[in-house]
Amino acid sequence: MPGIRGPSEYSQEPPRHPSLKVNAKEPFNAEPPRSALVSSYVTPVDLFYKRNHGPIPIVDHLQSYSVTLTGLIQNPTKLFIKDIRSLPKYNVTATLQCAGNRRTAMSKVRNVRGVGWDVSAIGNAVWGGAKLADVLELVGIPKLTASTYLGGRHVEFVSVDRCKEENGGPYKASIPLSQATNPEADVLLAYEMNGETLNRDHGFPLRVVVPGVIGARSVKWLDSINVIAEESQGFFMQKDYKMFPPSVNWDNINWSSRRPQMDFPVQSAICSVEDVQMVKPGKVSIKGYAVSGGGRGIERVDISLDGGKNWVEASRTQKPGKHYISEHNSSDKWAWVLFEATIDVSQTTEVIAKAVDSAANVQPENVESVWNLRGILNTSWHRVLLRLGHSNL
Ligand code: MTE
Repeated sequence: MPGIRGPSEYSQEPPRHPSLKVNAKEPFNAEPPRSALVSSYVTPVDLFYKRNHGPIPIVDHLQSYSVTLTGLIQNPTKLFIKDIRSLPKYNVTATLQCAGNRRTAMSKVRNVRGVGWDVSAIGNAVWGGAKLADVLELVGIPKLTASTYLGGRHVEFVSVDRCKEENGGPYKASIPLSQATNPEADVLLAYEMNGETLNRDHGFPLRVVVPGVIGARSVKWLDSINVIAEESQGFFMQKDYKMFPPSVNWDNINWSSRRPQMDFPVQSAICSVEDVQMVKPGKVSIKGYAVSGGGRGIERVDISLDGGKNWVEASRTQKPGKHYISEHNSSDKWAWVLFEATIDVSQTTEVIAKAVDSAANVQPENVESVWNLRGILNTSWHRVLLRLGHSNL
């Protein structure tokens, strides 16, 4: 891999924002305080969560860095960063969410394996780069192709980082060719985040962004793109990031019985207050995020103060001051919406948020019903306890 290398230890990690909460030392994984998520629609780069399975790669020489396009295609080739930059540039506002977001709450039901995330393993950014559909066209794969002449049906992304789960090999994931070649799916090879050059933590010099899909498929520090017949056989596709039913445990698990998780389900979380937080009697502003996968919009966010018997609807925005309309062409289809409701608190109260997406999918009431041994996709109603007492709120 000319120009870029994956170190085997952590002595050359980039600096990170002091307010990030570190969830594991090696590899470095961190999330911002939840209040940071609702202070702006676009999450600042330094407060964006970081999920790295190995030490962060180092670019020694950007000009010699290239991505190899190979596999079941007729004209394998190499693309340099200048080739990617010479393609039309798109800015796509998309929310990236780790499948393990809200895992800590799931682990309270029964033990799960994985990094203990609170509600902030999620962020919303403006990703700038070339469309994968345009890149694949350069190697002779037309738009909206499900299968190549040579039998390729999936597009695998391979990185240069060294992951212990891959026995020191690189991180890998794949998406269907039909999604990769669909310009409307907005899959990007991104070199910018929020208008700045992508930084090392988030994949410099080039990463994949697969909007509407769990973060695990948005491979950072891209080394090669392989057109393959079956899904990637990488660890993170085959032995991780799959959703099992609550009855499956580490003794009876059969990894091949489930598909790799792709789209994320409808999700929401309250971020303006902690669970548990002291408040004074009176009005309290409840703010948070809601998002759904697959480009589905957020139709409603409901708030309850009585365990789910009665609900009030929260207001929703993307761009500040502008009412959000789900599925409307003025809305960012891959991005979260921020919601807000003002409630009156006169006693200790549990506040619940639940979102409904444009396909009328609703978050499940209880975490028990979606519990799984890897602790992924905790999308149960989000609850915070407000205790009456002395507080600044
Ligand atoms: N790509 C590589 N090469 N290595 C990784 O460890 N982590 C994945 C994905 N892409 C990962 C990767 C996971 S699990 C997530 S959730 C996102 O990157 C996190 O992206 P971020 O760190 O930019 O927020």
